[in-house]
Amino acid sequence: MKKRRIAILTGGGDCPGLNAVIRAVAKKAMGEGGEVIGIEDGFEGLVKNRVKKLQNSDVSGILTMGGTILGTSNIANPYHYAIEGKGCKLTFRDYHKKAINNFKKMKADALVAIGGDGTLSMAYRLFEDGIPIVGVPKTIDNDIVGTDITFGFDTAVSIATEGIDRVHTTAQSHHRVMIVEVMGRTAGWIALHSGVAGGGDIILIPEIPYDINIVVKKIKERHSKGKKFSIVVVAEGARPEGGDVVVQRIVKASTEAVRLGGIGFVLGDQIEKLTCIETRAVVLGHLQRGGSPTPFDRVLATQLGSKAMDFIDEGAFGYMVGIKQNDFTRVSLRDVANGKRLVPHDNYLVQAARSLGTCFGD
Ligand code: F6P
Repeated sequence: MKKRRIAILTGGGDCPGLNAVIRAVAKKAMGEGGEVIGIEDGFEGLVKNRVKKLQNSDVSGILTMGGTILGTSNIANPYHYAIEGKGCKLTFRDYHKKAINNFKKMKADALVAIGGDGTLSMAYRLFEDGIPIVGVPKTIDNDIVGTDITFGFDTAVSIATEGIDRVHTTAQSHHRVMIVEVMGRTAGWIALHSGVAGGGDIILIPEIPYDINIVVKKIKERHSKGKKFSIVVVAEGARPEGGDVVVQRIVKASTEAVRLGGIGFVLGDQIEKLTCIETRAVVLGHLQRGGSPTPFDRVLATQLGSKAMDFIDEGAFGYMVGIKQNDFTRVSLRDVANGKRLVPHDNYLVQAARSLGTCFGD
């Protein structure tokens, strides 16, 4: 077995299970006599050459920890690198050559890039420009092309479901409409799965634009049948038919600058006005990304990390480790860079939920 020198970074938003992947890659490499170089804060560390050799003690005891011991950035892009000047003024530079030179200085055999579609798109460009990269998909949103599942999703769904379970108490006791807004960007996977798991009466996802009148009709119908409360689960990227998403903030330095959030409150005001039922909204936000990964995510992340090392052995650079029908698959980073995996309209869970009376606002 060749002793390998592996560089590793985590990019994009933090996600439960990142440390489990780092641990798997590092333990496998170290166990075979190899070395692991940790790059700090994603591509920022690659551009700025902030790296450290990981010791066994660095990766011991991190399996259950949320976040990432390496740090991350969902802003740093080597090809469009933001530099903040006076008065927070931003200028952008192409630093990809710097990133490549820094990688060469590490004398690593490969770079494992763990990230979402943004990080993996940059990884694809760096691969094309000469860095031998293997990608590992991470995101709570579960929206990466080429893989059925990403680690972090199960944890986010568990937390969101617990949130929905908990608002049931107030909804029932006070006869209110309770809205739970969950993350997911342009994809409705978290809302769909937590909405079904939490018994949401109305689930609104970006892929199915809603009609507020249909939402209101459903709530009134429930009321007339004696159900004096309703639970609405709304994805942050949901929007009304012919309308727009609610933007929470613009992060100018970020390649994907728009941060969504706030649809829950907009919807709450409308529902309250149109039904005369007190309506409250809760935005779960970053709670969904925080804390310890579920056992499922720990197992998935461990397998993905181990498989990434196999890809390196096989020379399968420019690929991401995907999961299709419960088996590993090689997914070209080019394909990952070219889209998002959204909820299809004929998704079976959507159909099943509809058949039980769940309203999708359409
Ligand atoms: O992609 C993960 C995610 O948590 C999305 O669900 C959310 O829209 C976004 O990141 C939030 O990003 P930030 O932490 O920069 O606000």
